[in-house]
Amino acid sequence: MNKPVSIDIEELSEPLTFPVEAYLSRDYADAEGDRLWARVWQHAGRVEEIPQVGDFITYNVGADSIVIVRTTPETIKAYHNVCSHRGRQLVDTPAGQHSACGTRKQFVCGFHGWRYDLEGKCTFKLDEMDWKGALTDERTRLPGVRVDTWGGWIFINMDPACVPLREYLEPAASILDPFSFEQMRYKWRQWVIFDCNWKAAIEAFMEPYHVEGTHSQLLAYGQYYAYSKAHRLHGVSGFDERDPALKMKQSSTITRAGKGKDPRVSTYELQNEIYTTVNNASTTETLVNAAKRLVDELPEGTPAPEVIKHWLAAAKADDAARGVIWPTISPEQMAEAGLAWSIFPNMSILQGVTFALCYRARPYGDDTSKCIFESYAIERYPAGQEPKTQWVYSEPNAEKWGKVLTQDFSNMAAVQRGMKSRGFRGTLPNPHQERKVTNFHRVLSAYMGTGTPKRLR
Ligand code: FES
Ligand SMILES: [Fe+2]
Repeated sequence: MNKPVSIDIEELSEPLTFPVEAYLSRDYADAEGDRLWARVWQHAGRVEEIPQVGDFITYNVGADSIVIVRTTPETIKAYHNVCSHRGRQLVDTPAGQHSACGTRKQFVCGFHGWRYDLEGKCTFKLDEMDWKGALTDERTRLPGVRVDTWGGWIFINMDPACVPLREYLEPAASILDPFSFEQMRYKWRQWVIFDCNWKAAIEAFMEPYHVEGTHSQLLAYGQYYAYSKAHRLHGVSGFDERDPALKMKQSSTITRAGKGKDPRVSTYELQNEIYTTVNNASTTETLVNAAKRLVDELPEGTPAPEVIKHWLAAAKADDAARGVIWPTISPEQMAEAGLAWSIFPNMSILQGVTFALCYRARPYGDDTSKCIFESYAIERYPAGQEPKTQWVYSEPNAEKWGKVLTQDFSNMAAVQRGMKSRGFRGTLPNPHQERKVTNFHRVLSAYMGTGTPKRLR
């Protein structure tokens, strides 16, 4: 039986380094199946994907496949996707898709026709008498997988001895609860296969340290010096003008919404830039439209804090008028929640009051240099106006993903190639701005039983 991995909050302010084995080694990837993926809670879908009894989705990670099905209006169950007879995968992944979805009254194996009800019980075995009574319900039922939900996400865990989901997610769950993500719905969801290890893909979204080098067009709106914090298994980054480390930066003004010569204009420009270049995500149409009206609604010279206050109040009222009610989140809660979370091992959430932009990366089959990468936006909608979405395979270009994500994508395969270089001496994550990356490797090494990141000096 696996012991749960216990990780405390750590400062991680020392310069640390770790080797590339985790990205490249075949043995490491094999061990990852047993030591990591078979033991962690991982987000496998959203509750909204299976609203009716009998609705199911599959979730594939490395060699494993899980079927997740709604068995009653209140209950979701998960099973290993394998027939008990001779091991045929019970639910096939359709060609060109990364998962299956649909509605079934029962699951029928395509090989010899054994049948399973939604509770996982094998209800039909052809010529059962040939086994002379040896086929018990227990021996033939679909093997169960732990399943639970938080924030509208369905999480699974293949380890029967795992800690409860809530305990695993803390303190992230409590810090993020005020955003009530369970009230948000998919806006769009896309996936692609990258030529890099899943870690290289998800790490590209763990820090804004790359903005200057990768998204230089965003520098027109200020600089992106960010804090990065470990929270047990998870981590958060964000911008904080009180960050003492900022003083060491030469241009020490963080320009976010509301800054610049005319905060009415710059607030709109930044919102519009984000909306159009991050694939209509990371903000909302309501917020962009309310920002656009600022020049009409406020006199020239209105101080930035007032511009921001007016903008948010206007957007909140606009949303309320169409039936989208903002949750109450105190300024302290907003500050603590920061900007972007990494939920160990492979989930990223960039949250706002009415939206979130999320990423997930996972191994693609058994290739250490390939991963399935997904991004999706969720948003609050008036009841009944949620868009119908499905997973769409999208080539990694700006037309499909927007300029910003395409810029991120351009680093993926190049990082994987670079890590194979004989000249690379191991990763040097920024001790202030990339602690989420370091923490990720600290937690990963605890699961994998390998050496933790080492001090650089
Ligand atoms: S393998 Fe499924 S019925 Fe034979
Ligand atoms: Fe980026």
